[in-house]
Amino acid sequence: MSLLTDKKILLGITGSIAAYKVADWVRALRREGCRITVVMTEAACRFISPLTMAALSGNPVHTGMFAAEAPETIPHINLAREHDLLVIAPASAQTIARLAHGLADNLLATIALASSGPVLVCPAMNSVMFQHPATQANLATIRSYGYGVLEPDCGEMACGEEGPGRLTDWENARQAILTAFAPQNLAGEHVLITAGPTREPFDPARFLSNPSTGKMGYALAATAGQQGATVTLISGPTALAVPPGVRCIQVTSAAEMQAAVMACLDAATIVVKAAAVSDYRPAETQPHKIKKGQAALSLPLIANPDILKELGERRRKSPNFPLLVGFAAESRDHLKEGARKLKEKNLDLIVINDIGGTETGFGADTNRVTLLDRNGTQEDVPLLSKEETAHRIWDTVARLMADNR
Ligand SMILES: Cc1cc2nc3c(=O)[nH]c(=O)nc-3n(C[C@H](O)[C@H](O)[C@H](O)COP(=O)(O)O)c2cc1C
Repeated sequence: MSLLTDKKILLGITGSIAAYKVADWVRALRREGCRITVVMTEAACRFISPLTMAALSGNPVHTGMFAAEAPETIPHINLAREHDLLVIAPASAQTIARLAHGLADNLLATIALASSGPVLVCPAMNSVMFQHPATQANLATIRSYGYGVLEPDCGEMACGEEGPGRLTDWENARQAILTAFAPQNLAGEHVLITAGPTREPFDPARFLSNPSTGKMGYALAATAGQQGATVTLISGPTALAVPPGVRCIQVTSAAEMQAAVMACLDAATIVVKAAAVSDYRPAETQPHKIKKGQAALSLPLIANPDILKELGERRRKSPNFPLLVGFAAESRDHLKEGARKLKEKNLDLIVINDIGGTETGFGADTNRVTLLDRNGTQEDVPLLSKEETAHRIWDTVARLMADNR
C-alpha cells in the first residue's frame, strides 16, 4: 500500500518535446497502485503516440472533445468529475496560456475549467519561452486560481540552450503528487530530523560506525514535507538522495551532529532524533594509518555526547521546547527499553522498533514500530513501508501537538 493506492489521476499531456518523459511517470504511478487516465492534446500526439500511453496506463486515451465514442456521456464533464488530481505534464506555454485565460478550446483545457479538484501543472519549454513575461504572468495567474505549479529544472534543453525549462524530474513530481493527497497536519511546523549513522574515526582510513542507512529518517523528512512542514534534515553519511524541498546538513561524527542540532534548535517546533548515533568514539585518533602486524590491538573508547538526553534536559527547563521524539532501536526487551528511554530522556514520544528482523532491521524498506507517548498511550503500527510508517508517526505527532495547544 502507498498513499497513492487507488488514487485516480488524470494526466494531461501537451505538445512538448518532454512528452516522452511522462511515459515513465505513468509506469511509476501504476506501480504504486494509481489509476491513470490520459488526455492528450492534438500537438501532444505528434510527440508521443496515444497507443503508447494507452498501453502504459491500461486505459483508453482521450484526444479530442468531439472524438468520443459515447458523446451522450459528455466526456469532458465526466472526466473532470472522475479523478482525484489533474496533473498537466509536460505543460506547454500554449496550454498554460489557455488555463490562465479560461479558454475551453480543446478537451484538456475544458476539463481543467470543469474541474473543481486539485490541479498540478508541470511546465516544460525553451528557457526564453519560460522566462518571457507573458508566460510568467500566466503562471502567476494560474497560481492565483489555486493550481500547483512545479518549477521546471535548469539545464541543457533539447534545443541546445541552457536555463530553466526542463520538465522537473520524477522525484519532484512524486513529492508534489503525494503532497496533494497528504493531510496538511504539519502546516506551519518546522521539523528538525536527524538520520543515518555517525562515523567515529580512529585513523585516517578507518572508523567505528553502524549499519544504519538513514531510510527511516529520510522517509520522515519526505513525508513531513508532504504534510506541509518546513524540514531540516541533519544527516550522517548515507547513500540516499535528499528528499525534494528538504534542507539537509551533512555531518560525519556524533560531535558534529550535536553541534548541528543545537545550532538549528531555535527554529524548530518538532525534533525527531532518528539517527543511529555512535554511543562511543575512539579515545584517540591516530594521525597516520595504523599498520598491521600486531596479533591484537585494543582500542580505548570514550562516551560520545548523548544528544537526545541533552535535548530532554533542555526540555525539562523550557516550557516552549519543541515536541521531542526519540527512537529506540532494540534487539531485545523492546517495550521495556523504549518505556525506560521515554521517561529517562524526557520525551513526548518514542518510536520503538526491532532491529533484529529482516523486515524491520537496518536497511529494510519496511518497518514495524510501536509508538509510546508521554501519557502512556501505546500504538502498535503494523508492518508498513518506511514512508507509510512515517505518516503514522506524523499522525501521532500532530495529535500531541494539538494537545499542547
Ligand atoms: C519540435 C518541437 C518541440 C516543441 N517543444 C515545446 C516545448 O517543450 N514546450 C512548449 O511549450 N512548446 C513546445 N513546442 C510548441 C508546441 O508544440 C505548440 O505551441 C503547440 O501549439 C502546443 O499545443 P498544446 O498546448 O495544445 O499541446 C514545440 C514544437 C515543436 C515543433
